[in-house]
Amino acid sequence: MIRVLSVTSECVPLVKTGGLADVAGALPGALAPLGVDMRTLLPGYRAVLAAQPEAETVFEVWDLFGGFARVRRGSLGDQVLYILDAPHLFDRDGSLYIGPDGHDWGDNAQRFAALSLAAAMIAAHGIEDWFPQAVHMHDWQAGLTPIYLRELGAAERVKTLMTIHNVAFQGCFGADMIGTLGLPQQGFTESGYEYWGQISTLKAGIMTSTKVTTVSPTYARELMDGAFGLGMEGVLASRGADFSGILNGIDLDLWKPSYKTPKGKDKHKAALREELHLPESDGPLCVVISRLTGQKGFDLLLDALPSLLEQGGQLALLGSGEPHFEAAFRDAALKYPGVAVRIGYDEAFARRLIEGGDAILVPSRFEPCGLTQLYGLRFGTIPVVTLTGGLADTVINANPAALSAGVATGLQVYPLTKEALSMGLVRLCELYRDADVWPQMMKNAMAQPVGWDTSAKAYAALFKQMLEPESEGARA
Ligand code: ADP
Ligand code: GLC
Repeated sequence: MIRVLSVTSECVPLVKTGGLADVAGALPGALAPLGVDMRTLLPGYRAVLAAQPEAETVFEVWDLFGGFARVRRGSLGDQVLYILDAPHLFDRDGSLYIGPDGHDWGDNAQRFAALSLAAAMIAAHGIEDWFPQAVHMHDWQAGLTPIYLRELGAAERVKTLMTIHNVAFQGCFGADMIGTLGLPQQGFTESGYEYWGQISTLKAGIMTSTKVTTVSPTYARELMDGAFGLGMEGVLASRGADFSGILNGIDLDLWKPSYKTPKGKDKHKAALREELHLPESDGPLCVVISRLTGQKGFDLLLDALPSLLEQGGQLALLGSGEPHFEAAFRDAALKYPGVAVRIGYDEAFARRLIEGGDAILVPSRFEPCGLTQLYGLRFGTIPVVTLTGGLADTVINANPAALSAGVATGLQVYPLTKEALSMGLVRLCELYRDADVWPQMMKNAMAQPVGWDTSAKAYAALFKQMLEPESEGARA
């Protein structure tokens, strides 16, 4: 067995703000049959400790950035979960990254440096006689791990994989934090963790890990371009062939439709229309489940909405995020009888939307992978996506070639304009009314493999490669 410690700031089913939690929650189970013993390290937020009351202390740290901390052993399904119980950093109201005032917690640098340092200590010293051979770091929150491993003298022995779920979050903190975080001053250079005069924990992870991945091959290529790389393009290019894209999957046990054929969707759709007081219609019922942020392209959808409604299409949206998007969708629901909007976070309702919807809309401006289009495929809820990142890699566009070959699973919109999205939504309505094409697309979608099989194998192969003696060790 290969021993890997996965370091993440969120994890299903315990704490989640986005897709990272789904990935971190599913990967250990997907890797176990492939000979990878992946254990997870997660901050001891209140919700995590409350859900794991039996978790016993297995490791202690006397002073972790201003307080006593212990690592507790819990469980994640059949896998081991380590919980970093550091009350001075994680025992508080508010959300994972943001305080009650709506701003990032003032001590986020220390909170996630602590997570990374605890990971490095576990890897360097072992825990319960378990000695990780590699650390899998998710996003900026885990990015300092290789630096701490080096400080602890374990960088040669323990390999590291940095996975970027979203390059927009770069873990930037003022250079005055170098001492507080215990970082080596000599690493504060362009080829180290220095980023435009600041510390970037994401850059630290990219520059100092053994290998770097992101969550789709197309996003990996896009990240080489400034428009997508958001400043990290040169940093990533410098890693050359050590950087690659591995597509996310979804947990097929958690996301399993109760029906096996396209017809099975009908009763769920009827129930959803009733729940939302949407009138009967001969157009498709489109759904959205998303954070409402600039990344997700909802300005385009708001502009294109009339084209959908004119064709008899409807929209049911669940989301929360930037207040101006929330207000604009609330207004649309008041204005149009074919639009229903629920602002908030609600997993049960999200599932009813996927089950009952005809199509799921993901008009993102960029999307590292995206998971809701994968849920859509599995449930025969046809994805309408923009041609970017993982959306480009997971949907087979209903262009003439795919339609004549009978393989289309969705619609891809390009370029990223409101005109193109409007045309895409009109085309969706045409396809929906075609009694031959639509059921075939639903069948194709439902048959598309969207689980972890292929990608778990790719991660397992990468870990194996990292551990081979000739593989380059941790850098810088
Ligand atoms: P991102 O991580 O960028 O938010 P993903 O598509 O990868 O995008 O993952 C989003 C995850 O969060 C999906 O599992 C989706 O169903 C879920 N989600 C997003 N918004 C909501 C919401 N308002 N209610 C319930 N689940 C949501
Ligand atoms: C990020 C990305 C999303 C991806 C998720 C899981 O939140 O925005 O596209 O699916 O991480 O990797």
